[in-house]
Amino acid sequence: MPAPLLAPSLLASDHANLAAGARLAESFGLKWLHVDIMDGHFVPNLTFGPQTVAALRKHTALFLDVHLMLDEPHRFVEPFAKAGANLISIHAEPAYDHAATLARIRALGCQCGLVLNPGTPANAAEPFLGVVDLVLVMTVQPGFGGQSFRQDMLPKISQLDRWRRDRGLGFRLEVDGGVDLNTGPACRAAGADTFVIGTAFFGAADPAAVARAVAAW
Ligand code: DX5
Ligand code: ZN
Repeated sequence: MPAPLLAPSLLASDHANLAAGARLAESFGLKWLHVDIMDGHFVPNLTFGPQTVAALRKHTALFLDVHLMLDEPHRFVEPFAKAGANLISIHAEPAYDHAATLARIRALGCQCGLVLNPGTPANAAEPFLGVVDLVLVMTVQPGFGGQSFRQDMLPKISQLDRWRRDRGLGFRLEVDGGVDLNTGPACRAAGADTFVIGTAFFGAADPAAVARAVAAW
């Protein structure tokens, strides 16, 4: 199983000073930053666009893990790749050509990921396990930070990890939503290796302690 990796979620940082959020993560030696893109349709909230990611790119060398919560992600993978995303994840739920969009992300020079909402079974990711760099299991209904972790997602994480081991695949298994120092270890035990943490990182009195704790999971 890959070493645990913390991807702080900028959603919970100061949106008027995103570069400071990136610098904070860098100052603890972290490598990834999670960037939530919401369109007000697929999820009932709005966040950033490609121009924001391009501006952020100038301030950080962190690996930008861009999570597209969009009804039509295929229309936006190119602008986000050009903006400097390192990995682009797209959701399984909307109707579009998932395989072609994953291939397009890769052709644009980025890693690609597939995301499952809480109501979407592991089976939905199965056809893509051989082509993705990451599978993201949402542990809340996406749209907002600060929600409660859903314990009932643990079997889905275990199933994906089992397929990964049985088939000798190397995709990362990421969890996102309500992950903190209490809920993260169960995700780790189920097979997750990449931990998106928003509120429990940027809202922590001592985010460095969170980074140290995750590294020891
Ligand atoms: C939720 C987003 C998450 C969010 C997690 O829709 O995808 O990345 O930032 O925030 P916390 O860690 O506060 O649950
Ligand atoms: Zn996210």
